[in-house]
Amino acid sequence: VHWTAEEKQLITSVWGKVNVANCGAEALARLLIVYPWTQRFFANFGNLSSPTAIIGNPKVQAHGKKVLTSFGEAVKNLDNIKKSFAHLSKLHCEKLHVDPENFRLLGDILIIVLAAHFGKDFTPACQAAWQKMVHVVAHALAHEYH
Ligand code: HEM
Repeated sequence: VHWTAEEKQLITSVWGKVNVANCGAEALARLLIVYPWTQRFFANFGNLSSPTAIIGNPKVQAHGKKVLTSFGEAVKNLDNIKKSFAHLSKLHCEKLHVDPENFRLLGDILIIVLAAHFGKDFTPACQAAWQKMVHVVAHALAHEYH
């Protein structure tokens, strides 16, 4: 992937303002609410019986933070995303059996969370850079699948 200087700037400047715990929890909760079939991967997370239960579930919150923190590693390694996610790709494929389509769904949800948080500051150019970012991350996470 090639990143322009402008894209890098847009990605890192938005990232610098992201509250990883809040946005991570919100993104994972929205994934589980909007695409309820994704709940089957998190059967051991306890009560996922309603949007309120999902949003308030401490395991969902903690895991959402973990996922977005790991996303932050990609932001710090823009030129090396595939390599930095090779291990996580293997884990999601071989151990967790997560269909890679779900990485795309979570990426789109993250865009919506960022747009909701930053409003007008999340400009079309910002969205374009982030859309590319979530695509590259989803691609990297799917890379070790076989
Ligand atoms: C675990 C990252 C998307 C399902 C994890 C872990 C990380 C991570 C860092 C913890 C690994 C460890 O404990 O060593 C990511 C990233 C994603 C992503 C960066 C996309 C941006 C997804 C999606 C699903 C999923 C879309 C399913 C719909 C899981 C499950 C676990 C896990 C089930 C194990 C949870 C547990 O029981 O602790 N992921 N993930 N991941 N991920 Fe993902």
